[in-house]
Amino acid sequence: MISVQNLTKTFGDRVAVNNVSFDVQKGEILGFLGPNGAGKTTTMRMLTGFIPPTEGCVTIDNLDIFEHPFEVKKKIGYLPEQPPLYFDMTVRECLGFVAEIHGMRGGMIDSSMDHVAELCGISHMLNRLTGNLSKGYRQRVGLAQALIHDPAILILDEPTAGLDPRQIIDIRNLIKDLGRERTVILSSHILPEVTNTCERIAVINNGNLMAVDTIELLSDKLGSEKTIVLNVKRPEHLDTVRLSSVSGVDDIKKHNDNEFVLTVSGGDDVLEKISASVVESGAGLTGIRVKRMTLEDIFLKIITGEKVQ
Ligand SMILES: Nc1ncnc2c1ncn2[C@@H]1O[C@H](COP(=O)(O)OP(=O)(O)OP(=O)(O)O)[C@@H](O)[C@H]1O
Ligand SMILES: [Mg+2]
Repeated sequence: MISVQNLTKTFGDRVAVNNVSFDVQKGEILGFLGPNGAGKTTTMRMLTGFIPPTEGCVTIDNLDIFEHPFEVKKKIGYLPEQPPLYFDMTVRECLGFVAEIHGMRGGMIDSSMDHVAELCGISHMLNRLTGNLSKGYRQRVGLAQALIHDPAILILDEPTAGLDPRQIIDIRNLIKDLGRERTVILSSHILPEVTNTCERIAVINNGNLMAVDTIELLSDKLGSEKTIVLNVKRPEHLDTVRLSSVSGVDDIKKHNDNEFVLTVSGGDDVLEKISASVVESGAGLTGIRVKRMTLEDIFLKIITGEKVQ
């Protein structure tokens, strides 16, 4: 549905986005994850046609966003980093204004407004001045603006930034609901945010796309190094020299009286060999478990330079 090809943006001699390519399928929720200044906002601004790329192109349903700007923009709802609200307008006026820009008139505006206000939990705020709203409610109004023309694609730049924990949960659930029928790209530098909401993540650092995959696949690709926790009944019988000679076992550490932590690389057969060795030594194997890499581990590994193909 969305195809990004060799997208580059430079500001003077600063490369904000460097030769980024990826695709997003219809109905998918993709999370853009990267530290401050990584290039998330710049990429999103190019995806929405807000700023032109220095090089490369974006197509939506096979239409180039700069060759068919009106057609393409109808399909997109965009929540920028700072929701563009007119502080001297009420929420109703703000939403009505955006609806008119999208070509809606009369009753259509009212019914769309009621619908998005309900979705975003702002029905009771329609007559308030946006300038008097709290940060969280401004964010909700921004989201309602992005949704008013019922777009097939939502591009949300840090949708939960500045919200309280209750509101974060509400907005996350709303995004998941919206993602059932729509294609969503959201950005965040908060790790649990993307694991909770997104099906795939694109990790971006220093303008470079370091990886795009599901969390499971990323951890499989990067996590050839695993940690295995072994519990034994009779640790004095455990032959650690023999265990360390099992191919794939890189390190063994005693964690407490009955627990050992092994660092291993390789596939599942290492696990089989380890358990066989422990059983043969007569140490009384009572537990063996593999610790997967957490998203934090993966994220750090990626942004410290390990590019994942
Ligand atoms: N209009 C601009 N002029 C000059 N430099 C810019 C401009 N917009 C962005 N940059 C630079 O491009 C880089 C990427 O910025 P961008 O805002 O895309 O990062 P980000 O990933 O969204 O960061 P954050 O998490 O802080 O929002 C930064 O180095 C930023 O200073
Ligand atoms: Mg940003």
